[in-house]
Order: sequence, then structure tokens, then C-alpha cells
Amino acid sequence: MTPTTPSAAIEAIEIGRRYGNVVAAESVSFAVARGEFFALLGPNGAGKSTVMHILTTLVAPTSGQATVMGHDVVTEAKAVRRELGMVFQDPALDERLTAAENLEIHAVLYGIARRDRRQAVDEALTWASLTEVGKRRVRAFSGGMKRRLELARAIMHKPRVLFLDEPTLGLDPQGRRNLWERIGALRENGMTVLMTTHYMPEAEACDRVGIIDKGKLVAIGPPAELVAKHATTPGATLEDVFIRMTGHALRTESATAREMTVSFGKRGGEHTR
Ligand SMILES: Nc1ncnc2c1ncn2[C@@H]1O[C@H](COP(=O)(O)OP(=O)(O)O)[C@@H](O)[C@H]1O
Ligand SMILES: [Mg+2]
Repeated sequence: MTPTTPSAAIEAIEIGRRYGNVVAAESVSFAVARGEFFALLGPNGAGKSTVMHILTTLVAPTSGQATVMGHDVVTEAKAVRRELGMVFQDPALDERLTAAENLEIHAVLYGIARRDRRQAVDEALTWASLTEVGKRRVRAFSGGMKRRLELARAIMHKPRVLFLDEPTLGLDPQGRRNLWERIGALRENGMTVLMTTHYMPEAEACDRVGIIDKGKLVAIGPPAELVAKHATTPGATLEDVFIRMTGHALRTESATAREMTVSFGKRGGEHTR
């Protein structure tokens, strides 16, 4: 397909996916500009991972079309895969191998030349602050260390578009902050990021948010605009907008969310609370 917004890094046009009788995603349309940080916000089962899997070519849409950097996710899947980095919702490291070995496998899979591999692995370990433990098996790592390693791996082949499916899920506040700092650094370097989250502060720190519920995108826009447009009471938050749009609360670990201050540098700063 020809993208209708040629400048977009990611474009989804009425994508949908059924699993038997289950409609995991239905008629979802949005575009993510180059360099933009975009969050899909929704509760468990909303269809966030399904949308991510369609856009990263892991599952085919049962309806609609999508492009990443102008390449169709179905007919040009190979080209799409070359453009993107992905951190999955569920950990995807080989726990029996060392951190360096996990990175090395990725370097081979992504065609990083043999002579450049050692350096690429070392740089990724440095970026993740894991140099000291590079030769240890991943099994012994904390959740935060594993997540950092996965993020470093996802950007190792220098993709222009990064997909993060609930990147901070299950991390303690400190681990979450640490990961956010690294994600923030990517933002300053111009990376395009599509992430999913059910943590309100993370969504509020993004350029734009798509609220997704029961497979459908029910609202889209910059967090402050969504609040201004849909809120009914003064001092309303994105959470109030979410409740208004979906008719139910987002299940959040609000204590954890409150403890976390998301700071994302210049562009995200104004959305921090
Ligand atoms: N492979 C699958 N087979 C059957 N049902 C699935 C599959 N993947 C997702 N679903 C269903 O689709 C819906 C959306 O799931 P998902 O995209 O994982 O939501 P989220 O990531 O927002 O939690 C859920 O009802 C889920 O059970
Ligand atoms: Mg999911």
C-alpha cells in the first residue's frame, strides 16, 4: 500500500485482528510522526500488544493496512523488520546465556559484520550500565537489569523506530525511573517510539496518547489537549479522561504510579506532574 501520510514513521489504517470469536483489535487508525513519542494507553486485554504485533509483522492483520517507514507490514515485512527495534511485553532473553552472548546473537541475526560485533556488544553493555556483569548469566539478573539489557539489544542495530510493549511492567519505582531515563535519552536523539502502557504518568510524558479499550481507539491527542477537550471538571487528569471515554477506571498500581516522577527532558517536561 502507499502510505497516506508519507512523512509518518508509523501509519495504521483501520487495522483489526480476530482470534476466532475474539476481536482483539478493531478498526484502529493512527499515525506516528518521525521523532514522535506515542503511547497506547489501555487496561489489560485492550488490544495494545495485538496492535504492536501487527505493526512489527509478528501477526498479520485480519483487516486494514499499516506501514512502518513507508513499508507495508504484510507485503514488505522484511523491510519493516530492518527498520525497527522491539522490546516485548514478556521477557525475551535466553537466561542460560550471558548478557554479552544474548547481545551477540542479536548482532548475528541483524547482520552486524563479524569485525564490528565485539564493539557493538561492548557499546550496548556500556549503554545499559552492564559492562561489569557482561559475562554473567542473565538468570542471575534483577528485573531492571534484564529490561535494560533488552532495551540495549533493541537499539543495537540502530533502528529508526522503536516499539516498547509495557517496558516498565513489573519493575520497582527505582528500576522504572532508571529505564525511563534511558528511554528519555533516545527521545532526545530523535528516535521514533511507539510504546504501550497502563501507567498514567508514562502516557502523560509522551507527545501524544491513543486511548485504547476493548480493541478500539477511543481518543487520540497530546495529553494536555485530551484533558482540555474531554474533561468536565477543573483540575481533571488524563485518568479522568480515560474514565469518561471508556466508562471505567484504568486498573493502575496508583501507589507505584504516584511514587514515580516521569521526566523526559524538554518536550515531555510540561506533561510531568
Ligand atoms: N494469540 C491469541 N489467541 C487468542 N486470543 C488472543 C491472542 N492474543 C490476544 N488475544 C486476545 O485479544 C485481546 C487483546 O489482547 P492483547 O492485545 O494482548 O491486549 P493488551 O496487550 O492490551 O493486554 C484479549 O482478549 C486477548 O485474550
Ligand atoms: Mg499486552
